[in-house]
Amino acid sequence: MKLTAKIASVLSILGLSVALSASVGATTADEKIIERIKPASNVCVEGDDSCGGAVVAAATGGARSGEEVYTTTCAACHAIGVAGAPKFGTSDWTERNAKGIDALLKTAISGINAMPPRGTCMACSDDELKGAIQHMMDSAQ
Ligand code: HEC
Repeated sequence: MKLTAKIASVLSILGLSVALSASVGATTADEKIIERIKPASNVCVEGDDSCGGAVVAAATGGARSGEEVYTTTCAACHAIGVAGAPKFGTSDWTERNAKGIDALLKTAISGINAMPPRGTCMACSDDELKGAIQHMMDSAQ
């Protein structure tokens, strides 16, 4: 009786350790599968904390460049001069440049005539708008 009990306890210890190592093995396999099937990259919407701050910074590289903001938002009107928008790469910007970037930023934020507030880029920081304006000012011919 005593011996059987000993064997049983040895077995249960073995069984436990086998179960433990099996579950460790499974975890590793699961992790490998998750690693293999996860998307190559994540799309993080600015302000969405679920991505983690570090991921957002890595994905976007921080603030967008003036060129990026111009291309994705401002170009819709400023590339061809919709509704009298000063046209990119023309003397339109030579005239506007005379106002100075601070005055231009101010009207870009508030909007002016057919120019909507923030050029419709509500997610743009003031600095990003300023970069986009600078990009257009630099295009003056
Ligand atoms: C829906 C069309 C539209 C979009 C989009 C747009 N603009 Fe404009 N923008 C205009 C128009 C029209 C004017 C001319 C307004 C006027 O002087 O009557 C203008 C003028 C400006 C001016 C000159 C303001 C001044 O004081 O003379 C700046 C600076 C400017 N836009 C910046 C931007 C920036 C930066 C973006 C992108 C973030 C942008 N715009 C997007 C239509 C647009």
